[in-house]
Amino acid sequence: MDRGKLITIEGLDGAGKTTLATALAAELAARGVTVSQLREPGGVALSERIRQLLREPALAGALGPRAEALLYAAARAQLTASKLVPQLKAGTWVLLDRFVDSSLAYQGGGRQLGVETIRAVNLFATAGLTPDRTLLLRLSPHAGRLRQQTRATEPDRIEQEDHAFFETVAATYDELAAADPQRIRALDATASADEVLRQALHAIEDLLTADRHT
Ligand SMILES: Nc1ncnc2c1ncn2[C@@H]1O[C@H](COP(=O)(O)OP(=O)(O)O)[C@@H](O)[C@H]1O
Ligand SMILES: [Mg+2]
Repeated sequence: MDRGKLITIEGLDGAGKTTLATALAAELAARGVTVSQLREPGGVALSERIRQLLREPALAGALGPRAEALLYAAARAQLTASKLVPQLKAGTWVLLDRFVDSSLAYQGGGRQLGVETIRAVNLFATAGLTPDRTLLLRLSPHAGRLRQQTRATEPDRIEQEDHAFFETVAATYDELAAADPQRIRALDATASADEVLRQALHAIEDLLTADRHT
C-alpha cells in the first residue's frame, strides 16, 4: 500500500487553521482518501497532558523558553512515533494542525532560541519525519487577534505575548516559506474560507494526482 501523505497547516492563531483542516478533511474524504485530522500539541494521551501543562496561565512566568521548546518537542515525539508514522504507513493521509514549523517560528523566532537550534531538537524528536506539504495561512498578527477575539475562550500563555513577538513569528514563517517553496505553500488567509480551501486544494493538487496514478 502507498504511504499516506502528511499535510501540515501552519500560521498564527486566528489564521483559520482549524477551519481549513476541517474543510480539507471533508474534501479529501469525498475523493475517497482516508484522512486523519489531528492537532498539535496533542493527538495522543501523553501529548494531550503536555498540552494542558503548556496552557496553564499559572505557569506563564515560570516556564523557561528552553523547557517550553522541549515540552513541545516531547509532545511531538510521542505523536510522531505512536500515531503519525503508523497512520502514514497504513496509507492514511494525515492533516495536522501545527508541526515542526510552529516550533521553528514560535520558539526559534518568537522566543529567539534560533531556528537552527530548534530544527536540531525537532529532528531528534521526529526522527526526521517531514511533511509532504505545508500550508501556511498568512495573516497579519492584528487580523489574527481580531479573529481570535470572536472566540469566547480566555487567552492562553502564548496568546498573552506582545505584538512584537507575533510580528517575529509571522516573519519567521515567511522566511521558512521562502527557503522551501516546494514544501511550504503560502496561502492568503484574509480571503474567504471557501477561497482559502480552493487555494489549499490547488496547493496539494500534485499530491492527489500522483496518488491516483500509483
Ligand atoms: N477565511 C476566513 N475568513 C473569515 N473568518 C475566518 C476564516 N477562517 C476562519 N475564520 C474564523 O476566524 C476564527 C479563527 O479561525 P480558526 O480556524 O479557529 O483559526 P486557528 O485554528 O488558526 O486559530 C474563527 O472564528 C473562524 O470561524
Ligand atoms: Mg485552531
